[in-house]
Amino acid sequence: MLLRSPHILSMSDLNREEIESIFQTTDTFREVGGRPIKKVPALRGKTVINLFFENSTRTRTSFEIAGKRLSADVINISKSSSSVSKGESLLDTVKNLMAMSPDILVVRHPAAGAPQAVARVLDKTRIINAGDGAHEHPTQALLDLLTIRDHKKKIEGLHVGIVGDIAHSRVARSNIGGLKTFGAKVTVIGPKSMIPSGIAGLGVGVSYDLAEVIPELDVIMMLRIQSERLGLRPFPSLREYSRAYGLNLPILQRAKPDVVIMHPGPVNRGVEISPEVADGPFSLILDQVKNGVAVRMALLYLLAGEFAESEA
Ligand code: CP
Repeated sequence: MLLRSPHILSMSDLNREEIESIFQTTDTFREVGGRPIKKVPALRGKTVINLFFENSTRTRTSFEIAGKRLSADVINISKSSSSVSKGESLLDTVKNLMAMSPDILVVRHPAAGAPQAVARVLDKTRIINAGDGAHEHPTQALLDLLTIRDHKKKIEGLHVGIVGDIAHSRVARSNIGGLKTFGAKVTVIGPKSMIPSGIAGLGVGVSYDLAEVIPELDVIMMLRIQSERLGLRPFPSLREYSRAYGLNLPILQRAKPDVVIMHPGPVNRGVEISPEVADGPFSLILDQVKNGVAVRMALLYLLAGEFAESEA
């Protein structure tokens, strides 16, 4: 199926049919990771540039692995290794990279809206938003939706709790969009100081009490406190935060017996989630990471493969 947008900037670019189509393509690529030779020729001769102006372990590595498993030429550029460290602007950097004719740019940037600004200066090159400030992280939401569907066999009708620093979380914003598209009920949970006023306008419930709401949840999505985006700490101490909003074995006893627990990473063990829960039987954290490679293979293929060219 044709994706309406040439770029993946936001979950609002994708309707339910398009997301289903991405998942169908993902399914065809999942088994490549289990082969002795983990490579298919789908993107031979294509160039993917990973342009990361913010640190990343999972997203950058999985985009690199995804591109290489599709036989694309993959180039990684970080802020510290690029001429941005000498004062070059983002748009000048992108225009210079465009002169080398890449097929796809994968961009992570601390400023909300940076990939959208880059998209406006692109000609044929496609762009994938790998996380822009506190705005969106659409590929994370896609892999999260797929992971939920893998384990619950559906998304519609599930009650998903997103817990923690909602205000600074691009993961929360993108997941809310995707989960609502699939008909899930979403409740955001955290201290008042970390829940943006007006978030109910996105069609989500709001709770300030994890212990109260946890028995209703089918999926618990824990979030890290985004210290790098905080000014003053919006809670008295990490210990108090953890006591009220941390997921540990005692509070988990209140949850449904088939609850699943997710976290986009990086995990701060002992703050938002205890090690026993992060590594326990309800945790899907490493399934999320595994699915990230196949989902990103699908996105690279759909944006730059022969399929995309025949639809152009
Ligand atoms: N989930 C996620 O975006 O992790 P990284 O910051 O390691 O890419």
